[in-house]
Amino acid sequence: MNEIRIFCPATIANVSCGFDVLGLCLDNVGDEMVIRKTGNGKVTISRIEGQDLPLDPEKNVAGVAALAMLKALGSVQGFDIDIYKKIKPGSGIGSSAASAAGAVFGINKLLGEPLSVKELIPFAMEGEELASGALHADNVAPALLGGFSLVRSYEPLDVVKLHTPGALYASIIHPQIEVKTADARSVLKHSVPLKKAIQQWGNVGGLVSGLYTEDYDLIARSLHDGIIEPLRSLLIPRFMEVKEAALTAGALGSGISGSGPSIFALSKGEDTAKKVAEAMAGVYADSDVAFDIHISGINPEGVRVLS
Ligand code: HSE
Repeated sequence: MNEIRIFCPATIANVSCGFDVLGLCLDNVGDEMVIRKTGNGKVTISRIEGQDLPLDPEKNVAGVAALAMLKALGSVQGFDIDIYKKIKPGSGIGSSAASAAGAVFGINKLLGEPLSVKELIPFAMEGEELASGALHADNVAPALLGGFSLVRSYEPLDVVKLHTPGALYASIIHPQIEVKTADARSVLKHSVPLKKAIQQWGNVGGLVSGLYTEDYDLIARSLHDGIIEPLRSLLIPRFMEVKEAALTAGALGSGISGSGPSIFALSKGEDTAKKVAEAMAGVYADSDVAFDIHISGINPEGVRVLS
């Protein structure tokens, strides 16, 4: 195999209670990427459609992830990458993670899979670090593994793929403003009152348990974030109104997708997810906030080969 075309999915990081440790993979929102072997021993990016992003591999998340992986493998194989961006950078649904995860996944396939998909995560994280200034895995892990991922530990890296209930759907609204992850991280406090920490880790445990037991009420009770959301929601137009509209329309929970500005809601069943999306859109429709909307199931497999 000398060339591969792949789908690189969008992801929702944090999932309310799990800042930097929880993420989920979307099914029908994502980029495409074509990667081909070359004989020049270099990583090159020939084409990026859909967004104005650097072609220099050392300044591009896909290039940085690819270079990190090839260096670790001691490989001198050259690769050329085309990226067809559909996920907008700064949207909060894992644009940089999709590119970083796609690059390492595709190159691994073309090299005959010397690494397991889990072993690709640290290299994709290096791409993420270029974009956000922080080594976080809660987008790249679900992009690579599919479903829900838990980063149990960063040092050493220990990522666990969680069970995903089949009826879970995501509704996402993306107000057309850009919030850089680095900026959204700079508004955070570096210490957490014990009382808030107790609530938060109770919710993380509750959410993980609810996913495994497919207990949608427990999932709903656990989708809360008392630490990050109060600070970051100030960066997002009409956040509380959108969230309340989603909950009133029947969502199990709603919060900031990754570092925002996208707002996500999780629902039981696609019909409810559609109603929730309409309700969220209704808040922006009577304002001057332009927006995109997505409704998606949870993608069980992550990055996938198209041809
Ligand atoms: N956990 C990261 C953050 C995700 O919230 O900053 C960024 O998409």
